This record gives sequence, structure tokens and C-alpha cells, in this order.
Amino acid sequence: MKLLDQLNQVERIPEKYASMTKEEKESRILEIKEKFGKRLYIPGHHYQRDEVIQFADSTGDSLQLAQLSQDNTDAEFIVFCGVHFMAETADMLTKDNQHVILPDLKAGCSMADMATIEQTERAWVVLQELYGDSILPLTYVNSTAAIKAFCGRYGGATVTSSNAMKMVEWAFTQKERLLFLPDQHLGRNTAFDLGVKLEEMAVWDPIAHKLETDKPIEDIKVILWKGHCSVHEKFTVEQINQLREEEPDTKVIVHPECPHEVVERADLNGSTHYIIETIKKSVPGTVWAVGTEMNLVKRLATQYPEQTIKSLNPNMCPCLTMNRIDLDHLVWSLELLEEGTLHHPIRVDEKTTKEARLALERMLNRP
Ligand code: 13P
Ligand code: SF4
Repeated sequence: MKLLDQLNQVERIPEKYASMTKEEKESRILEIKEKFGKRLYIPGHHYQRDEVIQFADSTGDSLQLAQLSQDNTDAEFIVFCGVHFMAETADMLTKDNQHVILPDLKAGCSMADMATIEQTERAWVVLQELYGDSILPLTYVNSTAAIKAFCGRYGGATVTSSNAMKMVEWAFTQKERLLFLPDQHLGRNTAFDLGVKLEEMAVWDPIAHKLETDKPIEDIKVILWKGHCSVHEKFTVEQINQLREEEPDTKVIVHPECPHEVVERADLNGSTHYIIETIKKSVPGTVWAVGTEMNLVKRLATQYPEQTIKSLNPNMCPCLTMNRIDLDHLVWSLELLEEGTLHHPIRVDEKTTKEARLALERMLNRP
């Protein structure tokens, strides 16, 4: 049997969940949560579906969820409603007797998949030949544990969209240049805001295995990995231009995973946390066009009816991998846990954890 077929068999959710009503599933979740009490903790990323987020013990962006996982020493079981790299981070930051579960193993992140450790190590050899010991690797937390370990090993750190400025600033106190993985847009937008010129940045193409630049190699300060978020790359300058023509008073706020020209044309840009806080504090009656994931935009529209909130892209689709975690997968995981089975446990090996923690702690320990 092929590996994919095997995976499909393991993954298939039992038929019974299709015939249970929504109310039945919801009451089973509440019953199991009540039974486990503090032994069970459910963190949920802001991009999750409402049907799932209603059961989250805490909600947050990547940085907040990493901090919450580290601080939670009570829970024996952490059922992570987010994507794979977030569950890996939670596992690495929690104790050995705490178990992290991802309700659907297919909840990955297409951006994290754009940088493999093999590609990164191969790139590093070339970059060392070009630049010697003058580069520091930084990785967005949206990356595998192996990439985080790579950064930890070479003195680098992780960053999130909430602290990217601070971390890039710190990185330049350590070395002359940076390798920023795996999101070229967050890397470019952050470095640009800190005064690095666009012509001082070059893109590393992991498929072609080469540095894309027509500038003198010694002038390059930031090497951007050629990765992107398939959700945030769908926001365009044309959408903003059209909106400016049709609704000049609408304010555009976007996530820095969007392309540079979109971020430059928007009124405001910042992390998921920043977007939420800015909308929350804005004067009633403000009209917002938001460039981030759709589940969050829809939730903000419901939570803040005194504002008008819509997506910058009217045909916006949600993050498909985040959406793999649905009510059915959550209740399935919890029912198995009740029976004593750890379904889809996420466990990072000891060596990777040790090195990746160096990178994570360099970020988490910075005030
Ligand atoms: P933040 O939670 O850091 O804003 O990142 C957004 C994202 O794309 C998570 O996958
Ligand atoms: Fe990955 Fe983008 Fe989805 Fe975040 S929104 S999990 S970066 S694909």
C-alpha cells in the first residue's frame, strides 16, 4: 500500500460524526472539557473557524499562543486548534509530561512547507562561501521545528509578525547580514521599515538554488527566502486602487505577510494582534477593508458592529489548512482522549527541541 493511501486510512474520520447533529457534537465537547477540567487546555489561533474557537480556552496570534503554551504548566493535554508548526512550537515549549495533540494532521501551513531543512542547509553552504561568517539566520515561527533548530544552532532566532521589527533590529546587532526564512514578504516589509533599501535585499530561490540579484553581492544586507503565504499573497494593489476610487473614506489595514507594494499602499499594516487592537480602538462608524484571513475578518465584523468591516478581497478564501480543524475533528480528538488514546500527538525529538528552543528563547526572552 502506498504511503499516501496509508495516511488517508489513518486520517479518515469515523462515519458517526457525519450523522451526529451540531448540538450533539457541541454538548459532547462541553462534557469532555468539564470532565478533564484543568488537565485539558485548548488554545485557538485567531484564524480558526467560529465553530472551533467557541471552545478555545485562550485565543491568540502566533506569539501569544507560543507564550501561553510556555506558561501553561497545569495542562496534561493540549489540544491545539491551529496549524502544525504551532503545535510543534507548543510541544517544544512545554514539559515532557504534557501532550500536544493536533486534531487533524493535514492542518499544515503552505508557507512553512516552502523551506525544508535540506534546502536550507544546501543554501547555507553557498551563502557561507559568499559571505563567510557575516550572516545570521532568522526564521518566522511559521516554519518547521528543524528550521527553528537550524537558526538556534547558528546563533539566530525565531520571529513572529508581532515582534519582527524588534528581532530584525536585534539581529543586526549580532551580524552584518540576515537570512530571513521562509516568508519573503514579512522579511522585506520589516527590513524596509528599519531603513534597509530594497536594492540591499536579494531573494534566495530554493528551487533554482541561487541568489536572485543584479546588484553587487557585497551590498546585500538581507537575503529573503522565496516563500510566501498563499492567503495573504491574494491581496493586491489593484484591489486597494479600486477601493480608493469607489470608497475613498475606507481605511485599509493589512498583515505584513502581504506583498510589499500592498503594504506600502495600505493605510496601516501590522500583525494579527495589531489588526484586532486597531479595529477595536477605532472610532465608531469607521469603515475598514482588512487584508488578512477571512475567518478573522468575519468574526471582527460580528464583534464590532459599530464599525463596518469587510475583506479587502471580496473573493477572499480562508486559510484552507487552518480550516481543516473543524467541529468534527475537535470532537473526534476529544472523544479519543476520553477513551485514553492520544490521537495525532505532536512530538518533536529531543535534539531538535534543544536547538529550536535556543531560537525560540532568544525571541521569548527579549522584553
Ligand atoms: P500571526 O499570528 O503571527 O499574525 O501570523 C499570522 C499567520 O499567518 C499565522 O499562520
Ligand atoms: Fe500558513 Fe498563511 Fe495559513 Fe498562516 S494563513 S497558516 S501563513 S498558509
